[in-house]
Amino acid sequence: MEIDRRAFIASLGGPAVVAMMDHEAKAEALEHYMEEKLDEMVAQNQSGQPEKFPTVAELEAQIETRPYRRGAGTLFTGQRGQNVKILQPMPPKPTLKDYFELRFAPANHVLQSATRAMKTGMSEEIILACLLHDCVLSLIKPDHGWWGAQLFEPYIPEKSAFAIRYHQTLRFYPDEEAGYEYPDQYYRIFGHDYTPPQYIQDTYKMLKNHKWYMEPRLVTVNDLYAFDPNAKVSIEPFLDIVGRHFKQPKEGLGYDNSPSAHMWRTLARPDNPL
Ligand SMILES: [Fe+2]
Ligand SMILES: [Fe+2]
Repeated sequence: MEIDRRAFIASLGGPAVVAMMDHEAKAEALEHYMEEKLDEMVAQNQSGQPEKFPTVAELEAQIETRPYRRGAGTLFTGQRGQNVKILQPMPPKPTLKDYFELRFAPANHVLQSATRAMKTGMSEEIILACLLHDCVLSLIKPDHGWWGAQLFEPYIPEKSAFAIRYHQTLRFYPDEEAGYEYPDQYYRIFGHDYTPPQYIQDTYKMLKNHKWYMEPRLVTVNDLYAFDPNAKVSIEPFLDIVGRHFKQPKEGLGYDNSPSAHMWRTLARPDNPL
């Protein structure tokens, strides 16, 4: 089996984390990673059969097999059944770049989305929206469009916040003309017989006639192609756009009394018991 070195290191939390692991821990992690990849490959390639997606009922039956809920943010659960890791403290006046490096890392998915948006010549508002669209998954997963928009809203253009809030809804609805298909990943994680709840259906109806429909739609278009494990990405190429469109508070994110400051503080200190 071929091992993608970068993807493997990223799956463990990046080179800094790997550097702290001893030989035994590394060997064990590699074995675990290979097992998982193999399971995935078997699931996809079994005698050329297409992957069998679970049903909603099958996914529901898994709930009581876990010590955590699927909606918990990635900062709050160990990855692949492992214990959580010690986090580096945030600097006293943290910037968006600090959060990217110390809390959202490895952030491959959003960086790849934004890279694609940049390569295809999209507006800076859309590139920024792509860069930020799933960052809130570190904090919480259900309704991540709404949570994500709320987290960033005090600091970014209205169009970017709109795109982040509503990409979650549009992910459920194909748009052939825009080049967006329903993702296989959603059959996998929601069940192949899943129907979005009424509020998502109502939000979609509202969006279809909205003058800004294409803003969240373009986030979904970039979302779809954003899982290339070989792509090399970093926050650096986006720092100019961040500088132009992200109003970094001088007190640091979390300490400016904005409506979402507490969300940033929670990201900074996810080990606090209260
Ligand atoms: Fe998303
Ligand atoms: Fe995404």
